[in-house]
Amino acid sequence: MASERVPLVAGNWKMHKTEEEAEQYIQALLPRVSSVSGVDVAICVPFTDLRAMVDSARGSRVEVYAQNMHQEAQGAFTGEISAPMLAELAVHGVVLGHSERRELFAETDRALAQKVPVALAAGLKPILCVGETEEERDAGDTERKLRHQVGEDLAAVADAELGAVVIAYEPIWAIGTGRVATPEQAQEAIAFIRALIEARSAEAGAQVRILYGGSVKPENAAELLALPDIDGALVGGASLDAESFARIVGAAAA
Ligand code: 13P
Repeated sequence: MASERVPLVAGNWKMHKTEEEAEQYIQALLPRVSSVSGVDVAICVPFTDLRAMVDSARGSRVEVYAQNMHQEAQGAFTGEISAPMLAELAVHGVVLGHSERRELFAETDRALAQKVPVALAAGLKPILCVGETEEERDAGDTERKLRHQVGEDLAAVADAELGAVVIAYEPIWAIGTGRVATPEQAQEAIAFIRALIEARSAEAGAQVRILYGGSVKPENAAELLALPDIDGALVGGASLDAESFARIVGAAAA
């Protein structure tokens, strides 16, 4: 069953790269990933880079995702971007609930419970991020946190659609710190998340792709990606360089 899931390696640029820098990057990335097979590749880019990256990546294996989205289609929400706006640009998907949005920009589980089904309805593939803080892990609260986030954020997604969601397990203490979860920690948490989905639908549990994120580098990618429940990676810092990101894609290739 697990072998039917195609791994996804997604690069989250965060607030990096002007359009000119993005163009240089995609021209360097495309030839480096054109011949790999058995892996889906995505770059999650700032809103201002979306149109250029969709154009430049068209016809290639690289999909283009946004990093956030508002749940309403339109309205008085200054500074926000809606699902129809992304869909019209032919963006493939959207990162939702990244810990930086939760911690720095007050993203709530309540909003995410609306955002995930709205993204799916618009034809955007959601990557829902979940993960515990260091304090929560030390207190033995990792599973409680994951159960809460997965439960709340996916509450309004029908069981039949759950398999179309991508979940990224990103322990907050491993993001941008160089501290990567051990293979045992990553596998244990991701298997737990899969069990939560399986409890709702056995079929969805087998289909849903669950990524690991947090200090993934070319040097540690192969070991993490070989774990049975890990279906890819959400890569921050190491995705900013096309060569380094392509090496991680290569580690996930069939
Ligand atoms: P780093 O790979 O820089 O630790 O970031 C992980 C992340 O937040 C990806 O969304």
